[in-house]
Amino acid sequence: MSKKYVIEGGKRLEGTTYVSGSKNASLPIIAATLLNGGMNKLYNVPNIHDTKMMLKILEDLGCKIKRNNGKIIIDSRNIHNHEIPESLMREMRSSVIIAGALLARNKKVMFTYPGGCDIGSRPIDLHIKSFEKLGIHVKEEFGYIICEAEEIIGNDIHLDFPSVGATENIMLASVFAKGTTKINNAAMEPEIIDLQNALNAMGAKINGAGTNNIIIKGVEKLKDLSYNIIPDRIEAGTLLCATAITGGNIKLQKVIPEHIMTLLNKLEEMGCTIQINKNEIILNSPKKLKAVDIKTLPYPGFPTDLQSILGATLTVAKGTSIIVENIFENRYKYLNELTKMGAKATIEGRTAVIKGVRKLSKANVRATDLRGGASLVIAALNARGRTYIDNIEYILRGYENLDKKLRSLGANINIEER
Ligand code: EPZ
Repeated sequence: MSKKYVIEGGKRLEGTTYVSGSKNASLPIIAATLLNGGMNKLYNVPNIHDTKMMLKILEDLGCKIKRNNGKIIIDSRNIHNHEIPESLMREMRSSVIIAGALLARNKKVMFTYPGGCDIGSRPIDLHIKSFEKLGIHVKEEFGYIICEAEEIIGNDIHLDFPSVGATENIMLASVFAKGTTKINNAAMEPEIIDLQNALNAMGAKINGAGTNNIIIKGVEKLKDLSYNIIPDRIEAGTLLCATAITGGNIKLQKVIPEHIMTLLNKLEEMGCTIQINKNEIILNSPKKLKAVDIKTLPYPGFPTDLQSILGATLTVAKGTSIIVENIFENRYKYLNELTKMGAKATIEGRTAVIKGVRKLSKANVRATDLRGGASLVIAALNARGRTYIDNIEYILRGYENLDKKLRSLGANINIEER
């Protein structure tokens, strides 16, 4: 049984909505609650497939989980397992950050290679090399990766690439290490800062998140956590682009504007007017957007997760836009679907060229990955007629109540089970 979005496009979006908690901050912080063997409370965790999967892994490991509304209570006192189930690893590759937390807690973890996914091969070589630098023995047996250590020893680690997941895994694995760990060329995303803040709230001694040098001083133990997750900057960008492509206006609440400055600058270049208040963004868009160029880069550069989102918006901008995707090797699949809706796009390796058209038209399309799927929703909001988007399970992985939020802005969008 697959779910579809049914969207009648062509309506201007206008009104007020809010941003939910960050998926990509929640996942490592849920993993971090394994560290203290205590009672932890997390607030503003989005109720989406990926956070549910992460919580299921913690239950499989022995944690007790209670959820009411936005609050999650995680009792990590009894961990009786050190294996991340293969089915869950395959289902969600970001579960690899459980490894760092389990190693810190019990100095042993077993998992299978996380499946590649639709945007690229997603290797974990930087994670494994970093674990080995911390004195962890890593071996492969029957398709399993088994990591064990007598003791985890702090060390200097230089990442070849500022990998978000590898940076998070090092922070988690080294929190109880003997001595100090330094990460050079660390990822600088806001989700890394949120993880540092959560770990320090438990009593860890970490500095430097948000820069490319992070220092983790090992401590003996950590206390219970009570923590409020930051808003989801990628959902914020998605709602802004959904408004802009319809020539609408939006007051977006519970957002941290400085987390998406690169997108806000692009939207202004495209002719939108943007007003920033403390936790609010007000966007008014022109009848016709202007084309712009995008180059995705590690934070604070333009985020790869917004490449397809802005790409969809540019399909009806005036002029030609050039996109260069520098982070993942296969993140243009959404463009094939958009051409079915009348978009004009060509792909040459890591570069896509989008020639703006006047309007898109309805079609039957299918999501191929999370952010590619969200780009189809944005395109459908502009398209004349009724668009069906299949495989929306991809989209539901990362967006909480997306259809409800868009309906509150006047969009005609519903979910159909077929
Ligand atoms: C995180 O993935 C995010 N996911 C991704 O968001 C995001 O696109 C990505 O960071 C980049 O910002 C979560 O936080 C759960 P990386 P991650 O390690 O950690 C290569 C979404 O839509 N690499 O920074 O997997 C890798 O192949 C998701 O919410 C290695 O070569 O990203 C890629 O080309 C999609 N070896 C690049 O680095 C490694 O060991 C960036 O990967 C690890 C990564």
